[in-house]
Amino acid sequence: MVRSASAEENHKPLIAIFGAGMMGSGIAQVCIQAGYSVNLYGRSEKKLLEARETIKKNLIRIAGKKKADVPMEPETLEQIAQLQLQLLQIHTDIASAAENASMAIEAVAENLELKLDIFQTIQKDCPENCILITNTSSLKLSQMLPVIKNPALFAGLHFFSPVPVMKLVEVVSTEQTSEDTTQYLFEFCNEIKKLPVAAKDTPGFIVNRLLIPYLMDSIRMLERGDAAKEDIDTAMRFGTSYPMGPIELCDYVGLDVLQSTLKIFRETIPGDARFAAIPLLDKLVSEGKLGRKTKQGFYSY
Ligand code: 3HC
Repeated sequence: MVRSASAEENHKPLIAIFGAGMMGSGIAQVCIQAGYSVNLYGRSEKKLLEARETIKKNLIRIAGKKKADVPMEPETLEQIAQLQLQLLQIHTDIASAAENASMAIEAVAENLELKLDIFQTIQKDCPENCILITNTSSLKLSQMLPVIKNPALFAGLHFFSPVPVMKLVEVVSTEQTSEDTTQYLFEFCNEIKKLPVAAKDTPGFIVNRLLIPYLMDSIRMLERGDAAKEDIDTAMRFGTSYPMGPIELCDYVGLDVLQSTLKIFRETIPGDARFAAIPLLDKLVSEGKLGRKTKQGFYSY
C-alpha cells in the first residue's frame, strides 16, 4: 500500500531523528513547522536542551516575521513557539525515540561504524514498516545496506546547512529502494517545504561531488599563498554571486566535517588528486580550530 506523507485523519506521522547536532536539530525544526510529531534523540540531555532552545529561538523569529505587519508582544510570540514545540519530544534513549516512528532519520557524525550501530539499534524498536533514512553527505548507502533488514524502505535524505534556510534536499535511492519509498520521500520533502532532487548512490551525490573539490581547491590556493583568504572570498562572492566565499563556507560547514568528508572521498575514489589530504586543513583540525562552532577556523568569530 502506498502511504502518504501528508495528513492522515488530521494526524501527521511520527518522525524519529537520531543526532541533535546542527543537522538533526534543523531537520527536527522543519518537521515540526510542517506539523509532524518529532522524537529527537541525542546522547546528552544538555545537547538536547540546547537544540530545543535553538529551535525555539528560530520559531519565535519566524512567528515574528510572519506577523510583521501586526507587531506582537514577545509573550505572544513565545506562546506560538511553545505550541509548535509541543510536537517535539527529546530522548536520551534510542529505543523510546524509535518506538512508533513512521520514519527514522539518522543525522549522527559522518562515521560509518556509528551509523551502522545506530541503524542496528533503531531496528530493534521501530515498527517493521518504518522508513529508514540516512542524512550522510559522503558515505555510500550501499555500505549501510548489510545491516538494513528491509532495503526497500531504506534511502537517503541529504539536507544542507543551515537546514531551516536551505531549500534543497537530495533524495538518494539505492538499487533496492522501492518506488513507493522514493515517492513518499518526494512527498515528504514537499510537505516540509523543501525542494527535492533525485540522486543516485554515488560518492557525494550531486552537490558535494561538485562542491567539495571547489572548497578544497580554495584551501590549497590559500596554502600556496596565491591570495589572501579575504580576497578569495570576496572574489567568489562578487565574481559569481555565491552567498558566501569558499573559505568562509568551509568555516561554516566545519573543518572537521570537511576533513572526514575528504577522507571518505579519498577512500571511495582512490587516486584522485582532488581528494588528497591538505596539510593546512589537518593542522587547523588538530589544533581544535573547527570553524564557526569553535569560534576559530580560517577566521576568528
Ligand atoms: N538557522 C536558522 N536560520 C538561519 C541560520 C541558521 N543557522 N542562519 C541564518 N538563518 C536565517 C536568518 O535568520 C535569516 O532569516 P530571515 O531572512 O527569515 O530573517 C536568513 O537565514 C538570512 O540570514 P542572514 O541575513 O543572517 O545572513 P545571510 O543573508 O548572509 O544568509 C546564509 C546566511 C543563509 C547562511 C547564507 O550566507 C548562505 O546561503 N550561505 C551558503 C550556505 C551553503 O552553501 N550551505 C550549504 C553548505 S554544504 C552542506 O551543507 C552539505 C554538507 O554535506 C557539507
